[in-house]
Formats: sequence, structure tokens, C-alpha cells
Amino acid sequence: MIRKVVIPAAGWGVRFLPATKALPKEMLPLVDKPMIQYVVEEAISCNMEQIIIVTSSGKSAIEEHFDRDFELEYLLEQKKERELLEEVRGIAELSNICYVRQKEQLGLGHAILITRELIAGEPFAVFLPDDVFDAKVSPIKQMLQVYQRYQGSVVAVRRVARDELRSYGVIEPQQIEERVYQLLGVVEKPEPEAAPSDLAILGRYILTPEIFEALEVTPPGIGGEIQLTDALRLLAQRQAVYGYEFEGEYYDAGRPLGLLQATVGLALKHPKMGPDFKEFLKGIRRQL
Ligand code: G1P
Repeated sequence: MIRKVVIPAAGWGVRFLPATKALPKEMLPLVDKPMIQYVVEEAISCNMEQIIIVTSSGKSAIEEHFDRDFELEYLLEQKKERELLEEVRGIAELSNICYVRQKEQLGLGHAILITRELIAGEPFAVFLPDDVFDAKVSPIKQMLQVYQRYQGSVVAVRRVARDELRSYGVIEPQQIEERVYQLLGVVEKPEPEAAPSDLAILGRYILTPEIFEALEVTPPGIGGEIQLTDALRLLAQRQAVYGYEFEGEYYDAGRPLGLLQATVGLALKHPKMGPDFKEFLKGIRRQL
């Protein structure tokens, strides 16, 4: 059983400047909700009992978002905006969330490492809010089945174009069944010619608690940061780590073009806005 999930939300969001100068990038809207709300809802749909968000200075809007706001609720009540009121209350009732503050931006691996005491020796999940999925069965649910079969860490992977590999952790795979690979190695952000395959890690992980021992001895890697990928390589030398090629659509909402693509992709499927948005896009298409 995986009961805990870590959502790292401490990064700078440099790629979105100036939009993220005063706003955490995780609060940028994707259609009608901030990006981070999607991963919190995903965690709840997977029955995660504890959600741990790693924040940093300047990220207090995230905590506000998942908290009650009595003034706002009162205002909406006065205005008889029942639907909005339910929505706003619902967000605060989504789950019990713990916040851990990363005081220095020492990388994704470090962000995970500081949750060690809260994870307390259990296997756990990591969801990166920048990675947006649109799948019939969420990738993490697909991965949980692999975890149950093999009882080892599982990372989500997908084939990406060679020249995009330098944006990802890339695995050296040994296929063991359809869509499942054992990691012989893994490299963070390789140059395409040095990449061990075209299977990139995307932001969903199920990790065994031994990852913390690996993280503790992981030296700073690319970009001077403690990389989760480097710790996974150490872990894979001690116990089997798996990559699972999930089924579904993926958007890299960690960059402006990807966020735009995710917005269009999800807006088209939005129950209320979808049909009108589709008509709008058809009109645009005629102008292209
Ligand atoms: C992080 C990880 C990388 C992974 C990627 C998925 O990189 O370090 O291994 O492939 O997320 O989005 P970042 O996007 O933070 O540069």
C-alpha cells in the first residue's frame, strides 16, 4: 500500500518569468485550476492519505489556496454564489496537507530528502506538478500495479524525440515484459548522443524508502543540484528499479509552450467549456 505522496513545489519557475516573479509557478492556471490542484486531486483519487508539499520562500499562495478563506466564503454566501462557494470550500477540504520548507534550492533530490521523517520508512509516491497527464487510467494507478507485482521502485517513462532527451532523466533499460523495464542505469539530462535510450523519466515515481539512503550520499550533479535521478542510479545498484511505459497523453507544462498545449488539450475535454472552445479553435483554424 502506498499512502504518502511528496509533491515538490519549491523550484524557481525561471522558465515562466516574468509571470512567476510574484506567483509560484505551481499556481499558474491550467484551464480553470492552478496546476498544483491537479496533482493534489490525483493523489486523492489514488487514496493517498498524506500529501506532503515541499515549498520554499515565496510560495505561501499554495498554502492559502488549500486553506479555508472565511471572508471569501462569507462574501460568496452573501452573493448567493452557491456553486462557487462549494467549489472554494471543496478545495480546502480536499485533504490534509503537510508542508515542508526547503530552505535552499539544492535540487529535486534534496527536496525529497527533507521529507524523510514524514515518510518514516514507507514506500511512497512522488508527483511533479509540471508533468500533466491525460489518461483513462492515471499513470500512477498503472504504475501501482507494477509495484505490486515487483515490489520495487517504479518510475514513469515514455519515448521522447532524441533532441528532447536533454530535458529529462533517461533510463538504460532492460525490457522484462511489455511496457516494463528494469533500470540498468539512468542519466540526468544527457546530451542526445550520450543518452542510453530514448526512454525519458516523467514526473511520477513510486519509491522504496531505501531511496533516502541513496539520496544522502548523492553528490551534487548536473546544475550543481542533488538529482533524484543520480540517487535512483545508486538505488538500482542495490535493488531492482523499474521503468513503466505508461499509456496516455503527456504534456510538459514546465515550459510555456507545454503549458499552452496542456491548456488546449484539457480545455477541449472540459465538460462546460469544451464545446465552445472547440468552436473557437475551428474558427482560428480557418485563419491559419
Ligand atoms: C525533473 C527530473 C528529471 C525528469 C523530469 C520530468 O527534471 O530531474 O529526471 O525527467 O523532472 O519532468 P526538471 O523538469 O525538474 O528539470
